[in-house]
Amino acid sequence: MPAFDAARRQFVLATAAGLALSGQAAAQSRTDEGPRTLEGNPMPEPGPEKTAGPVKPGRGCVLTGKVALVTGAARGIGRAIAVELAANGADVVALDIAGPVSSASNAEPATPQELDETVRQIRGFGRKSEAVRADIRDLAALRQVADNIERDYGKIDIVVANAAIQRWKPLLEMEDADWRDVIDNNLNGTANTVRAFAPKMVARHKGRFILLSSMQGKHGTKDGSSYSASKWGILGLMKSAAMELGEHNITVNAILPGLVDTPLTRYEKRLSESIAETGRKPPEKPTPQEAWDIRAPTVPLKVGWLQPDDISPVAVFLASDAANMVTGAEYEVTGGDSAKTV
Ligand SMILES: NC(=O)c1ccc[n+]([C@@H]2O[C@H](COP(=O)([O-])OP(=O)(O)OC[C@H]3O[C@@H](n4cnc5c(N)ncnc54)[C@H](O)[C@@H]3O)[C@@H](O)[C@H]2O)c1
Repeated sequence: MPAFDAARRQFVLATAAGLALSGQAAAQSRTDEGPRTLEGNPMPEPGPEKTAGPVKPGRGCVLTGKVALVTGAARGIGRAIAVELAANGADVVALDIAGPVSSASNAEPATPQELDETVRQIRGFGRKSEAVRADIRDLAALRQVADNIERDYGKIDIVVANAAIQRWKPLLEMEDADWRDVIDNNLNGTANTVRAFAPKMVARHKGRFILLSSMQGKHGTKDGSSYSASKWGILGLMKSAAMELGEHNITVNAILPGLVDTPLTRYEKRLSESIAETGRKPPEKPTPQEAWDIRAPTVPLKVGWLQPDDISPVAVFLASDAANMVTGAEYEVTGGDSAKTV
């Protein structure tokens, strides 16, 4: 892990621990303390699981004692989320196929070594972790993983459904796999993840799902229709699951990253597409710097793209007790690019 990243995560940990300690001394009261009445009638006081509760230092980033599963955790955004959950106190099971997914994937397959590296980084924060090689298209395998986590960790608090592939192919040139495999992997696989783990959470009347959609799930994508459709579908799944699982005290939210530098996007075709998205004609073989320089002026925060650990802090918040009353919501993390989208 680069020294800067390690220092940042240690700072996050130390700050959270320090704040938690000082918070024990501080009064934990509602900010609107005082008589809450309407014409002499008391306002209803929600029970502890029906509110995020009073202000507590660090409550949006403390996950101590929680158990998480992250799919697609071998690299990229999945790894960043897995490691950042651990940096904030959670034990994290890292699941990935760690091998080829489909011919309809433009990215290089992830490797078992990359998955092991995620586990190493999680353990570097003193948390329990293990690598699980499984395919999110296999519902029975996911149910077995859920049973195993319950047996070995005692419970499952947080599930991050992050695994996905991407395909660039015009509709007029598609093979069947270019459509079907992307929908099956991204949308059906994410639904499988929810279906496999939800019963464990229902039984404990508590849980968090965080689904990875994309800004490409909010607008059309030229030559990327199957990916875009899968990510729109995940938003429909997220909102429906939030409606069904709310009565079981389970929240379901989505993170919608803008363009992020990961193996999913780090190849020439994606660089060209990312330039074309700005309305400019891409050069023959754009370099990463050329793509950054063309994109950055078009993004409110003036970056060409984001880094995986720009996305992960939002997952920590959504997994924390501070997000008790957040469900069915879309969190866009885009450097401001999403300001252009309805
Ligand atoms: N990188 C971006 O610009 C970007 C933007 C918006 C949304 N996203 C979303 O973020 C998530 C992570 O993307 P990333 O950029 O880190 O991609 P990535 O390719 O770096 O990582 C994805 C991981 O998912 C795994 N995976 C794929 N299919 C699987 C399966 N069937 N079973 C188990 N594991 C499987 C892969 O092996 C890989 O390790 C995805 O849902 C992606 O759609 C990414």
